[in-house]
Amino acid sequence: SLGAPVAAGVEFSGAFQAMIKHECNFINGTDRVNYFEGLIYNREQLVHLDSDVGHYVGDTRYGEMNARRLNSDLECLEYERAQVDTQCRHNYEVSTPFFVE
Ligand SMILES: *[C@@H]1O[C@H](CO)[C@@H](O)[C@H](O)[C@H]1NC(C)=O
Repeated sequence: SLGAPVAAGVEFSGAFQAMIKHECNFINGTDRVNYFEGLIYNREQLVHLDSDVGHYVGDTRYGEMNARRLNSDLECLEYERAQVDTQCRHNYEVSTPFFVE
């Protein structure tokens, strides 16, 4: 198990920090892969998507509103579910020689 976060994006605006976190977790090489995406505002996670669950889940009241909106967009959900293959497995094949060897 690598368990390494592959990418994280950070944006600053004034004193507030909004961050979208993307994580690929490799439980057994590319055999079992989990994709995680979280929206964090001022260190509080508002909403997240876990590919094992397959849809957005709100972590706050505001996040729940956003989860409902995001989950109603089926095209967006399909895209996020595919990230396990298009991002995680793809990046693993490309980057493993640097991470592991
Ligand atoms: C890990 O993945 C390999 C295939 O890459 C598979 O043969 C093996 O059963 C998997 N192990 C577990 C614990 O899932």
